[in-house]
Amino acid sequence: MKLSILSLFTFALAASAAPAGCDFELEGFAKDNPLGPTTGGAGKGSKTVTVTTVPEFLAAINGTTPTIIKVKGTFNFTARPRIGSNKSVIGSGKGAWITGAGLTIVNATNVIVQNLGIRGIKDNDGITIQNSTRVWIDHNEFTSGNFPASGPDEYDGQVDIIRGSDWVTVSWNYFHDHWKSSLIGNNPTFRAIDFGHLHVTYHHNHWKNEGTRGPAGRFGHQHIYSNLYEDFLYQAIHSRSDNQVLVEGNVFTGKTREALSTYGLVIPEDSPNTGPAGDYELDGFANLGASKFFQAMLTTNPENDFGKAGVNITQVGNFTRAPYRFQLTPLKQVAKVVKSGAGLGQL
Ligand SMILES: *[C@@H]1O[C@H](CO)[C@@H](O)[C@H](O)[C@H]1NC(C)=O
Ligand SMILES: *[C@@H]1O[C@H](CO)[C@@H](O)[C@H](O)[C@H]1NC(C)=O
Ligand SMILES: *[C@@H]1O[C@H](CO)[C@@H](O)[C@H](O)[C@H]1NC(C)=O
Ligand SMILES: *[C@@H]1O[C@H](CO)[C@@H](O)[C@H](O)[C@H]1NC(C)=O
Ligand SMILES: *[C@@H]1O[C@H](CO)[C@@H](O)[C@H](O)[C@H]1NC(C)=O
Ligand SMILES: *[C@@H]1O[C@H](CO)[C@@H](O)[C@H](O)[C@H]1NC(C)=O
Ligand SMILES: *[C@@H]1O[C@H](CO)[C@@H](O)[C@H](O)[C@H]1NC(C)=O
Repeated sequence: MKLSILSLFTFALAASAAPAGCDFELEGFAKDNPLGPTTGGAGKGSKTVTVTTVPEFLAAINGTTPTIIKVKGTFNFTARPRIGSNKSVIGSGKGAWITGAGLTIVNATNVIVQNLGIRGIKDNDGITIQNSTRVWIDHNEFTSGNFPASGPDEYDGQVDIIRGSDWVTVSWNYFHDHWKSSLIGNNPTFRAIDFGHLHVTYHHNHWKNEGTRGPAGRFGHQHIYSNLYEDFLYQAIHSRSDNQVLVEGNVFTGKTREALSTYGLVIPEDSPNTGPAGDYELDGFANLGASKFFQAMLTTNPENDFGKAGVNITQVGNFTRAPYRFQLTPLKQVAKVVKSGAGLGQL
């Protein structure tokens, strides 16, 4: 068959389902890292299974055989499913829903979670990533259902990344109606385990009506770009205990009190502190956008739009640019691009 230039062009368009301005390829620390790109269940010896029941789901995520797991329906777990290495867990169509208990990725490497809705997980996290490397959390939806009226601890985190985990990308997720979103390093006493790890990229996530931790990091490095924050009520990005963040091209709107802080105070709205005025840890570091040299090479403005939200940077640090190529969305297009591309039913 003879392919015309036009049909090749049409084929290229059809191959990419992403809305205009959206690029859904893996970017960031889960792609560019010393261990190699995250591939999940793809690759040599890979098999594909479709699961529709809880026992099928649990059997498919077990072990380390490379497996692409297509997930259909709603799954109400009584205990936290534990996803093994070399797995892609992908909701079908408009997404599959998880309730009852959230997902755990522990002592694992090379895991992808996409197109899952995780709803109303009480007393624990939507996803916990513990002592694990190369994880991509992409195009999921996380919510309590409503913003929790009973305080920060009725639910726990949406995506928490702990115990020396490394090389993670959290992209194109819709996090909404929840108090504590994403904690990196869950204990100030785990410095020796965590320090030098916890490299996480957050990009093109949509946060709406959330309380704190968008994200909050200790001891690691997080690159946070092209995210949309709407009504992030108390504190969005918090970098403390010598953590470093690089924050560029994000948009903060609505009732967002504080967009970014490196001040070591753990605010009372975040945790039931030991003192009424909050708990104190060492300060963190934050850089805004790329260095002057790097800015000159970018065609897109790396600045943020903080709107009316506060910014308290007490230390600047040395995480001045990302050690990989990535695509910053022009600041004026962030709201539109993120709203059209984040969440379920996009893949
Ligand atoms: C996972 O695999 C191990 C080892 O084969 C087995 O002992 C365990 O019961 C399996 N768990 C599930 C949930 O299938
Ligand atoms: C999940 O199962 C529990 C019982 O194990 C039940 O109380 C709860 O209502 C169920 N949730 C959903 C969303 O079906
Ligand atoms: C699967 O994961 C393990 C780590 O748990 C790794 O050693 C192994 O090489 C992986 N297998 C394949 C085929 O990628
Ligand atoms: C992780 O691996 C270590 C070392 O093998 C083991 O001691 C620990 O129990 C594992 N953690 C979990 C939650 O299985
Ligand atoms: C972390 O996981 C690795 C396997 O990937 C294991 O060797 C190590 O003991 C684990 N560490 C802890 C503290 O569980
Ligand atoms: C900002 O940080 C300083 C410490 O450097 C602290 O005194 C001040 O209260 C902080 N401001 C806010 C609004 O938290
Ligand atoms: C960056 O700053 C941290 C904190 O001060 C320091 O521990 C680290 O050595 C510095 N890294 C480089 C490459 O200068």
